[in-house]
Amino acid sequence: MEKETIIVLDFGGQYNQLIARRVRECNVYCEVKPYTISLDEIKAICPKGIIFTGGPNSVYDETSPRYQKQIFELGIPILGICYGSQLMALTLGGEVKTAPVSEYGHTEIEIDASDVIFEGVSSKTVGWMSHTDYIEMVPDGFQITAHTSVCPVAAMSCPERKLYATQFHPEVVHTAEGMKILSNFVYKVCGCIGDWKMESFVETTIQNLRQQIGKGKVLCALSGGVDSSVAAVLLSKAVGKQLTCVFVDHGLLRKNEGDEVEQVFGSNGAYELNFIRVNAQQRYYEKLKGVTEPEEKRKIIGEEFIRIFEEQAKKIGAVDYLVQGTIYPDVIESGLGKSAVIKSHHNVGGLPDVVDFKEIVEPLRMLFKDEVRKAGLELGIPEHLVFRQPFPGPGLGIRIIGEVTEEKVRIVQDADYIYREEIAKAGLDKELGQYFAALTNMRSVGVMGDFRTYDYAVALRAVNTSDFMTAEAAQIPWELLNKVTNRIVNEVKGVNRVMYDCTGKPPGTIEFE
Ligand code: XMP
Repeated sequence: MEKETIIVLDFGGQYNQLIARRVRECNVYCEVKPYTISLDEIKAICPKGIIFTGGPNSVYDETSPRYQKQIFELGIPILGICYGSQLMALTLGGEVKTAPVSEYGHTEIEIDASDVIFEGVSSKTVGWMSHTDYIEMVPDGFQITAHTSVCPVAAMSCPERKLYATQFHPEVVHTAEGMKILSNFVYKVCGCIGDWKMESFVETTIQNLRQQIGKGKVLCALSGGVDSSVAAVLLSKAVGKQLTCVFVDHGLLRKNEGDEVEQVFGSNGAYELNFIRVNAQQRYYEKLKGVTEPEEKRKIIGEEFIRIFEEQAKKIGAVDYLVQGTIYPDVIESGLGKSAVIKSHHNVGGLPDVVDFKEIVEPLRMLFKDEVRKAGLELGIPEHLVFRQPFPGPGLGIRIIGEVTEEKVRIVQDADYIYREEIAKAGLDKELGQYFAALTNMRSVGVMGDFRTYDYAVALRAVNTSDFMTAEAAQIPWELLNKVTNRIVNEVKGVNRVMYDCTGKPPGTIEFE
């Protein structure tokens, strides 16, 4: 099935992925391509429309990215955003200058003409600006369709040639009616019908996987995280028992998690696949005995995972395909146009090297995270797996400061379970980015009943973040923290103190190690 496609031509803007996600939210498939893609490659894709991204450069810099003029002659609708709008203006004979006043942030925009991309948009609206140059004169045949108090051309268009441009960023949430503008572009200008739906993705992917794999044998390292779970279910629907999933319980999972994964994927679960659970808890605790240095712990946990996977793979014998849960942001971030770096499970490099296989299958390669979740729901995977918050490969190993012992794992599991339970009861679970309990390596004096205690302090953490590169400590209601604290000190043996981590990232990291 040929689906309609919009191309985002990337000129180095920070919102390239976001534009593609927004277009997909309009149910239109969208891919990010580097500005170095050739005209012939573009023609081969046969896109319904092209969007030029913003970029950090000035169009006048010698080294700034350009595109050949012929792209405007293909008859394919184009929307230029920010740098992309200036590039369109300059290439077609308009003028771009350094603005006397730069505009950053929320800006009032006045719509001047009844342009198709502004249909249904208020005549005064708020747009997100971030520019130092601006278009001073539009090219011949263009009309100015919006301005601000300092920017004469906040938008321009040439409807006859299906060319549109906005100086502001319709893709960011701060542009109040940005989605309307993008939707007008893809539907009213490009004539899309909106055929990008998860149910058709799931159906066609299953069919394609069947064709690709034939009677081959497939191996998948399943972590219980959303990406590997969705990949495994797609494969199981496609090839059933030809798929073997190896799930390593390293004893550093959250409370009950190993059993939950087994319930879904094991022999009593809903899927027909070969499921191997490796209970390697004791083996990990042995290896981690006496080790306190965080990077060393990470290395041991990762290496042990490879060893176990290798042992299992040997038992299974040569396989034809190895499944990777690579998703679209990994593909984009690992360098557009080049093939994706293979994402390693549990953050261990080199996993594929230890397995004798012919080819890698990456069924989620073109999906964003929210689309992976939608596909997961479509496939009937339980919500607690689909909406699982990020959990690091080394697991609780890096949430226990200092040496990891079975006893400390029990403490942090129990404390974390209570914390998560109360957060869910308060209805905050979907709001918070990531939240968990960690075990500090600190013991302190307390009193319980009439007795002196000398027990551990648990640290609670909750952060809000959009990209996990930066984060701020979430302001959890005091009553909730109070309740969690009481429950932890009363219910979890070995803990007499609970602290809340108020540190953002930077200077802290989200995890403790
Ligand atoms: P930090 O602690 O670096 O975490 O601020 C950022 C995000 O990455 C996750 N994280 C990891 N994930 N293996 C993983 O698979 C790791 O070693 C690891 N360390 C951190 C962390 O949970 C957060 O979402």
